[in-house]
Amino acid sequence: MMNRTQSYKILSEHFENIRKLSLLDLFTAQKNRVEAFNLSYDGLYFDFSKNNITNETLDLLINLAKEQGLEAQIEAMFSGEKINNTENRAVLHTALRADVTHGVMVDDKDVMSDIRHVLLQIQQFSNKLHSGGHLGYTGKPITDIVNIGIGGSDLGPVLASQALKPYRQSSQSIHFISSVDGYQIYDTLAELNPETTLFIIASKTFGTEETMTNAATARSWFLKSAKNTKHIQQHFLAVSTNAKAVAEFGIDCKNMFQFWDFVGGRYSVCSAIGLSVALYIGYDNFRLLLDGARAMDEHFYSHKHDLRHNLPAILALIGIWNHNFFNYTTQIISPYNIQLKHFPAYVQQLEMESNGKSVNKNGDKITGYHTCPVIWGDSGINGQHAYYQLLHQGTAISPMDIIIALSCDFSDKSDESYDDILAHNDILVANAFAQAEAFMCGKTYEMAYEELVKSGITEDRATFLAKHKVFGGNRPTNMLTLPEISPYYLGMLIALYEHKTFVQGVIWDVNSFDQMGVELGKQLANTILADIHKVFLASDSLSIQNTNDEHDLVEHSLIGHDSSTNSLIQQYINNRST
Ligand code: F6P
Repeated sequence: MMNRTQSYKILSEHFENIRKLSLLDLFTAQKNRVEAFNLSYDGLYFDFSKNNITNETLDLLINLAKEQGLEAQIEAMFSGEKINNTENRAVLHTALRADVTHGVMVDDKDVMSDIRHVLLQIQQFSNKLHSGGHLGYTGKPITDIVNIGIGGSDLGPVLASQALKPYRQSSQSIHFISSVDGYQIYDTLAELNPETTLFIIASKTFGTEETMTNAATARSWFLKSAKNTKHIQQHFLAVSTNAKAVAEFGIDCKNMFQFWDFVGGRYSVCSAIGLSVALYIGYDNFRLLLDGARAMDEHFYSHKHDLRHNLPAILALIGIWNHNFFNYTTQIISPYNIQLKHFPAYVQQLEMESNGKSVNKNGDKITGYHTCPVIWGDSGINGQHAYYQLLHQGTAISPMDIIIALSCDFSDKSDESYDDILAHNDILVANAFAQAEAFMCGKTYEMAYEELVKSGITEDRATFLAKHKVFGGNRPTNMLTLPEISPYYLGMLIALYEHKTFVQGVIWDVNSFDQMGVELGKQLANTILADIHKVFLASDSLSIQNTNDEHDLVEHSLIGHDSSTNSLIQQYINNRST
């Protein structure tokens, strides 16, 4: 366990010294502090100087990573060892974008040839669609792509298609359906024409209830117009590891894009799960996304013995320092470019589903330290006008990753006019940088008082108001800048956080690649659903007229729930329209 290591003990002692120093103290003591605490790789720049760290802190954190076996674990992951020990699976999202001539072997099988085959399949379909070779059942071109999936089968494609909209092939629009709330799918379908809509059913297991319910609704909607099930082949594609379930749904195997157990759902955007993205932005741009991810993989792997210059490792170690030593319990992801609006939700699943665990890899209960913090966030600039108040003046401190692209030139990527975009971007960038400065520097009572007096108000009033205008400062931020939001840099950013997640999982000693914590709710939902159906079936067959009878029936049917759950089910039954 992390807290039983020698490095952890030394770090705890070191922490007692560091906690006394504010960020401003650290900057005063080291004028060019940023030179010591930044890393850049292939255009991506990471400034971590606004964290309460010294060089010694980093050395000690690196010792912790080494003592927890990080170097060997990196090797194990990249070489296809079955590091997902509860599911006995390799973890090879890196192979999805690898450019290796040698094979990557899992169970004596070269996974690279399967990966190349599926990439070719994506390329061929994408080219066919864009060249007008794939038409709808009445011979019309496809105008709308609808991805039906949830969690990892939704968040990556949503992120990438929103972020890379300027790269889209002008002929198609894209839509995402994830929720089982029928409003979402019916609202989306209302705008679409079955003759020109292509559905992608994206589900690793092809058994997820939300996705399969939506898929069935889409199929019925389509068949209402198309009538003949043979037309399904032109309008439904499947992305899955489960060929049998795909065939049972009625999708031909030639329309199935495969991926494999060694790709976790939340690590799958570079697999065929990215099909909707490839169709939306074109295959060549999708390849650039993979290239960017591969560049980060290569950086991460090649610096496995040089963690001090390893971007994902340092990002992860700073997270550990803030969470496990400073006890900051949440981590905010604040992208400033609206194109990255979905990045917080993406990272939220990535980190929280991977590392939100309370037993270690051996199944022993973790005691004495916390694993994954709560990850949250939204567009940074919108956050400034909503929750940043608490971040500046609230009692709890939440470290923040600020992410911003330095250039916003879309002129070569889009026909649309972006005439005034530079003026907008100057404001956006100024705000991103200013927030990091404000979080660090804060404002003292004296500064606030002086400003108030200068503004012309009375000293009495200034004495009172200044107390409300104090900013504690000393709030840590990471600043990540990208040259632009392009497929390549988005790929890098995604892989950066994937590897950050992996490093933290190794240090916390958890299996980052299963997600057993999602099962209990699913099981109970199935029981409650069955209970609801039972009540309605019984009330139908007894044609119950009066509410007392119905109440008895519900009481009788709902056995095994607590009184609160029973009461909620009862309320639903009373209010459900028939
Ligand atoms: O229930 C959680 C989860 O399994 C995620 O890990 C996954 O990304 C999501 O559901 C969707 O699963 P699938 O792709 O199998 O439909």
